[in-house]
Parts: sequence; structure tokens; C-alpha cells
Amino acid sequence: MPTTRRQFLQSVGVAGGAGVMYSTMGALGLAPTAAAAPYTPPRSGDFTLAGRSAARVVVLGAGIAGLTTAYELQKAGYQVTVLEARDRPGGRNWTVRGGTRETDLKGETQHARFAEGQYLNAGPARIAQHMVTLDYCRELGVPVEVFTNVNADSYYFDEGTTPLSGTPVRHRTTKADTYGYVSELLARATDSGSLDGYLTGADKEALLSFLGGWGAIGRRVEGDPAASWKYTGTSRRGYEVLPGAGTQAGTPLGPPPSLSDVLQSNLGRNISFEFGFDQAMLMFQPVGGMDRIPYAFERAVDRRNIVYRAEVGGITNTPTGVDVTYTTRGRRRTVTADFCVCTIPPMVLKKIPTNFAPEVGTALAYAQAAPAGKIALQYDRRWWETDENIYGGITNTNMDIGTIWYPSSGYHGDRGTVVGYYNFGNNALAYGRLSHKERLSRALVQGQKVHGQKYARGIEASFSVSWENTRYSEGGWVSWPSRESAEYRRLLQPEGRTYFAGDHLSHYTSWMSGAIESARASVTALHQRALAG
Ligand code: ALA
Repeated sequence: MPTTRRQFLQSVGVAGGAGVMYSTMGALGLAPTAAAAPYTPPRSGDFTLAGRSAARVVVLGAGIAGLTTAYELQKAGYQVTVLEARDRPGGRNWTVRGGTRETDLKGETQHARFAEGQYLNAGPARIAQHMVTLDYCRELGVPVEVFTNVNADSYYFDEGTTPLSGTPVRHRTTKADTYGYVSELLARATDSGSLDGYLTGADKEALLSFLGGWGAIGRRVEGDPAASWKYTGTSRRGYEVLPGAGTQAGTPLGPPPSLSDVLQSNLGRNISFEFGFDQAMLMFQPVGGMDRIPYAFERAVDRRNIVYRAEVGGITNTPTGVDVTYTTRGRRRTVTADFCVCTIPPMVLKKIPTNFAPEVGTALAYAQAAPAGKIALQYDRRWWETDENIYGGITNTNMDIGTIWYPSSGYHGDRGTVVGYYNFGNNALAYGRLSHKERLSRALVQGQKVHGQKYARGIEASFSVSWENTRYSEGGWVSWPSRESAEYRRLLQPEGRTYFAGDHLSHYTSWMSGAIESARASVTALHQRALAG
């Protein structure tokens, strides 16, 4: 189940964070230590210098990759037409609000009845500070706010038979106990001489001093190794009775479970999630919903350059350009352009007739769809804040719901919307097979194990998404068996006058930044070719 960092990374089809890999390669001398060449947007002056006129480009898909492509190409004066099958921009960047209606590939229609201001970011929901996505938010004037990815006051909850199963444990408590006992063990090993082959006397003292603070453990008791370095719990675990006025010192939670119980419960496995390069706090979200980004792009590229409800039916490279046929409102049309940038997901594109070389078809078929799903639950009161002092953040479980997310906005409001599950892989497939009603009742059964009966009360609206069952996406993202493969690399090259772009063609799969970086790479290659004539 995708509760740990490793499982999470596996679910997004990577063996380690990009940063981990890069720094490891750097340390081994395999990667250049300097960053990649900075992106230079095409400029209209480029054509003046080259003595050519800007070309016409058809972009397939108004998701983040397609919109970035259109926006960047327009900077140099390209005439861009974007064909989008849906009636909105964003693709998987989809904010479900009151009034949203969607029919999935199984034929079930959901109609969202969220109140004003309530929404579900059905796709992307968090942005790391290093991601280029934030640069576009700045450039396009999209206000952002902190997205609370980790919260000391949210829970870890495991079902099962370990000593701590069946009880929600606050993140802070798990952290205190895990760091405490690990520090105790390491301090004992250090002080008893077990690590003398690795540590000098000064190293040992430095490490012991560090562990004292890291784990909040006791000191050395001279002549009594068994009594030394003990972790006995501190207020870091939390309080049963909070400190207060006058003589109210508070009653710390405690004593901690035994070392063995803490280790065997393995709740500590969750802690490393926040060490991930992509997942570390602070993280951000646009104020008002993730779709503020695609709508800002839509304004920037001019809505008149986007054809909505345009389903691509065929792509044909010709010696001088590309012909794309599409159907819109029952009419079949063709657009001819000098170049095409295709951001249609491989799962969908492989079914569209083209005259591409067979290797392209093989490469598209090599992409595996990663299932992913979410449900949003709008409550009539913010019980997680009023009753449990949780303001945003995520509860991790080992159940099929994966995680529960509390909203990172609208604090103290009358109502709020919780994400009742966010799952991947087999759990997503299992929920995806259910009707919305069944998903809802299952999510409520699971959530009550963490939060009690109130979890099933006061639900005013709900909406679920199963990405593998969502038309025009057919997956949460792409999972590549390998990005070293010839198949992956083939799609980094244009096919005739058609270029490919999308988060799947990046090392930021499942992130908007991957879509943007990939779009910029295709824009750069296309522009160089257009200038060269
Ligand atoms: N990038 C996706 C997430 O953060 C998978 O959940």
C-alpha cells in the first residue's frame, strides 16, 4: 500500500527522487554539476534575425503541457491552434466544483453539488517550491498559498495485528517515539564501543550530543549502561492535558509504548515521506483551486485559439506539415499546420490513427497507465479543526483509502471538504470498479476507523474520480517500465513534423512541472528547426 515513501515512489514509477538520483550521479562524477542550460523562450525577434516568418503550429491537448507549448510559442509570434477534447482547459489539472458534471468511461455520470468555494483538486494538488510551475504562477498572476503536506497533528493509522494497530497515532507521537528509540539504540552502540571501528572519541561525543537532542533521550549514567541513554518519552509526544495557567503544568501523553512495540508497529516507516525532494514542506497550491493555472493560461493564449470539444481523429505527417482531423459538435474538420505538438496521453494516442512509424506505436504501447483515484467529502462542519485540532495536512493509513487529506484553506469556515481517499495501483483499481455510491460508503467505513462515527455524519456533497476510467486521460499518469528504454527515448524525438510533450516525457512524471519542462523542451527543438527552415 502506498503509504511509505518507497511505495509512493514506486507508484509514480520511479526508484528514487530525481534529486536523489542526480546528487548520487553527481557524487559519482556521472552528472554535470552545473544545472541544465536555462530555458530561453522563443522571441519574435528570432524570426526577424533569421529572416523567416513564424510558423503555424497545432497543439493537441489543452492540459498543462499543451497550454505551456501554446503560450511559449506565441511569445515568438507562432500562430497556434490548440485542439482540446474536453470543454475546459487543464486536462488532469481538474478542479471539481458545484455544477461539475462528468460521465466516466463506465457510463456513470456524477454531478458535483459542492457549495460555493468548496472544491476537489481531482488531479494535481501540491507544488514544490523548486518546481517551474510556481514560476508560471508568478508570470500568469495566479496567487498561491501554502499546501500543508505534512502536519504534526494529523495521524498515522494502521489496521492489523501489530501492537499499535487500530489506534490513530499523531505524526508527532510516532516521530518522537521513533527518533527516541533509534537514538537510544545508537547511543548505546556508540557508548559501548560497538562503533569504535568507525568513530573517533571526538566523533562519539559529537554523535552522543546530537542524539540527545534528536531523540530527547536521557544522559549517560556513570557505571550503569542499562540506565544510560534511555528514551522515556517527553512532551514531544503530545499532551493528555495541555499546559495552562498558574500551576497547570499539563500531563504529557505517555509513557511511550515499548521499543519492541514501536519497531514492530512500523508506523515510523511513514516519516521519510516528507524527506522526498518532491514532497517536502513547504508546498503550495493556487488560491481557489488548481485550475486557476489552466484558466490563467487560457487567458494568456486567448481562448479563441483553443477549440474545445475537439476530438482528434487522425494525425498525418506530410512532407511540408501536419494534417490533424478532428470532430467537433458532430462535424469533422481538418487543420493543417507546419508543425504539431501532441500532448495526448500515450494510452489515448495509441488508439488514434496516424501515419507514424511503427516504433512510435511500440513506444506508445510501452507506456503503462498508472491507476489513481480520489474522493471528496464536503462536511457541514470542520470537525477535524474543532474536535481534533487538525488544520490541513494528511493522515496516512495502510488501508485501501491510502490517505485522508484535510483542506489547506478555508480554516474556521462553516464547512469544508476532505479528501477521503487518494490511492494508486490495485487500491485505485478496486475503487475504480465501484459506483460512486459504493466508493463513498467504503470510504466512510474506512475513515470511521480513524475518526469515529462523526466521519459519516454531516456529508453534504461528494465526488469521486477514477483516472483510469476518465475519458481522454485513461490513467492518473504514465508509469514507464524504464526511462532508459529505446521506447521512452523514441518519444523524445519528433516523428516527422510532430513533437510529443507531456509529464510522461520527463523525470517529473505525475507533476505539472514535468509537463511544463517537457513542453519547453519540445518548444525549443521545434523553434530551432523552424528557424533553420
Ligand atoms: N505527484 C503526485 C502526488 O504528489 C503523484 O501525489
